[in-house]
Amino acid sequence: MRERSFFQSGVFGPPQHRRLGIFLAVAFCVPVIAPRCPALGQSASTESERIQYDDTTHTFRMDGAGVSYVFGVNQNGELQSLYWGKRLRPADPMPPARADGGTSAFDLPVNATPQEFAGWGGGLVVVPNLKITFPDGNRDLVLHYVSHTIQNNTLTITLKDISRDVAVDLTYKMDEETDILARSARIENRTQLPFTIEDVFAATWNLGPSNDYQLRYLTGRWAGEWNLQQTALHPGKVVLESRRGSTGDEVNPWFAIERSSQPDQDVGDVWFGALGWSGSWQINVETDWQNRVRITGGNTPFDFSYVLAPGQSLETPRFYGGYSNTGIGGASRLLHRFELDSIVPGAPHRRLRPVLYNSWEATGFDVNEAGQEALAEKAASIGVERFVMDDGWFGERKDDHAGLGDWYVNPQKFPQGLKPLIDKVHSLGMDFGLWVEPEMVNPNSDLYRKHPDWVLNFADRPRTEGRHQLVLNLARDDVRAYVYGFLDKLLSENDISFLKWDYNRNWSEPGWPAAPVEKQKEVYVKYVHNLYSILADLREKHQHVEIESCSGGGARVDLGILRLTDEAWPSDNTDPFDRLGIQDGFTYAYAPGVMMAWVTDSPSGMNGRSTSLVYRFLSSMQGGLGIGANLNKWTTEDFAAAKRLVGEYKAVRTTVQDGALYRLISPVGESEYSVTESVARDGHQAAIFAFLHSSQKGQPYPQLYLRGLDPNAVYSLHAHEGKLADGAVQRASGDYWMHHGVSISLRGDFQAAFFTLEREEAQ
Ligand code: GLA
Repeated sequence: MRERSFFQSGVFGPPQHRRLGIFLAVAFCVPVIAPRCPALGQSASTESERIQYDDTTHTFRMDGAGVSYVFGVNQNGELQSLYWGKRLRPADPMPPARADGGTSAFDLPVNATPQEFAGWGGGLVVVPNLKITFPDGNRDLVLHYVSHTIQNNTLTITLKDISRDVAVDLTYKMDEETDILARSARIENRTQLPFTIEDVFAATWNLGPSNDYQLRYLTGRWAGEWNLQQTALHPGKVVLESRRGSTGDEVNPWFAIERSSQPDQDVGDVWFGALGWSGSWQINVETDWQNRVRITGGNTPFDFSYVLAPGQSLETPRFYGGYSNTGIGGASRLLHRFELDSIVPGAPHRRLRPVLYNSWEATGFDVNEAGQEALAEKAASIGVERFVMDDGWFGERKDDHAGLGDWYVNPQKFPQGLKPLIDKVHSLGMDFGLWVEPEMVNPNSDLYRKHPDWVLNFADRPRTEGRHQLVLNLARDDVRAYVYGFLDKLLSENDISFLKWDYNRNWSEPGWPAAPVEKQKEVYVKYVHNLYSILADLREKHQHVEIESCSGGGARVDLGILRLTDEAWPSDNTDPFDRLGIQDGFTYAYAPGVMMAWVTDSPSGMNGRSTSLVYRFLSSMQGGLGIGANLNKWTTEDFAAAKRLVGEYKAVRTTVQDGALYRLISPVGESEYSVTESVARDGHQAAIFAFLHSSQKGQPYPQLYLRGLDPNAVYSLHAHEGKLADGAVQRASGDYWMHHGVSISLRGDFQAAFFTLEREEAQ
């Protein structure tokens, strides 16, 4: 009893209680209940070193190098969170889960107990993970632990309703390199009748009480994506959501929660997470009166329902979560590493992004064989490795009013098909890529005239167009077959190495009239499953083909699409100054190694801003470098400068794309400066890009204190673009560069510098 009262609010009680609780647990544990303490080596039945289960306390503990995640089955049979954070010592005790007693009739224990996955029932008022309507009208669902398995580093826990045969398998898998945990749920109907799932969220992450949590998330709009927001968490709920049918750019399905607002990027506790789902989604951040936080994410319940027939099951998306004790900077480095080594195709041996050229900003829809070949020759001359033809090559596509859906090569623009252009591109030593927008149709197309019923729509209701196009209902098997079929044909008949897969509007009228009424809302799930299966099947059959996820910019970037695509387009805004902020925001959640960035024309088509070619290149060299300028307008000097810069990029691209990113100065707020540093995985090199918006009152550029270097190694400094300050040292220890810092000289407006540190190998 005594122990129970101390642990009534779990280990998340106030710190003084927590310390006392741990003391008591240790005190009692050693002589009396040692067999209950897996940490003391008495009774843990361990199938894997990373996942331990103590069957006397019913406690699960997952350990990574830097993280422990602990939960248990409480006296009611609920799965209850106990700890998530910095790795605990093996000898640290973990008391059994005890449901919170609640405080009054208005605050039932079921809501006060931090559950891992709760059904809507038994008085639950927090966001449920699962809500079901049964055919007899019952809507009460109470999920209790039944059993578990540990296999291949994966913990699977089966929950079941207290009376009905609804089974939920929860899966937990911790990534060995980054300790990022992947969680998901599979709902199975083992009853005799169908039931309707109304809400289903993949997982809930629980954080213990703290009155200084800060939530970070990313918001945006077309051409203005990836703005990092910050808000203090107070009792109440913050809802991050897309009702758009796809990931969307309004909010990205990523969050980070810091304990207190840290003045330094690389300091402090941060819990973060991201959804692997490219359809409508929701993440709820609920803070209770004790300042405990629940983060529940998955499909949005808005306009959602899914009927499960007897024997059928539904798998949720994965909800990934991680912890960093090196601040938000450390959190993003963990995510980057995880994405590159565990998520993207080919991981952990994915190919580096080649330097590409894309003709979109140069030609618009006005593409043809001679024009593309001329651009290809120029692109090859500066070291481009991939030539991509954008929109305009197919159907009757003269502008954005027509052609989507008709995926034949336009015979006026390419009388002999794509082969002559592709051969030319290959002869120049580049591979060939092509723009497609497979999920869309213009009403002015042969496809729509033939199959008007193939789009999302409600019968006899208007069909709202966006960019003169409608969304094909990919949930339909015939539409899926058509889309896979034309892409397979295109890739089989042409030597294409890369698809820029675009998606230029959100859903409207998300109806599916051909399906039975009770199944029509399943479109939100089946559409995304079919999208993923098309991508997977294409990749399987055409293994050399790489794919970019583009959605009018960055409106479909998430850990679901990144499993099937090699890179992402962050924004249609290619102004190099705006891009510094866009790229800064993007990298909180996604790796520079998947972030494509193009050098385009000056003045910028977006805002009329004029910048030098060097500034534009250095802005783009912080990710996967592309060139999207009209090369027909370049001078001889431009080509020479571009060739030099492409060469400089290739010498650091592994470091930039795969290394550890440190934001030395973020270009947020009124900052005149922006500085990133990327450190190679093996530490041999660091690449530093520094930008100045405008000199103010003769102020010198700030001293740059580098990070992530080996303090004892000796590095030599090389200025590639821009100048070091007079008298700057060029050879010194890691400690020197990190603590004395680097002085560079940047003056004027829209100036930029690029330098590297190369580690000298010990003799
Ligand atoms: C979208 C993309 C652009 C370009 C156009 C073509 O806007 O984001 O990069 O491909 O479509 O129509």
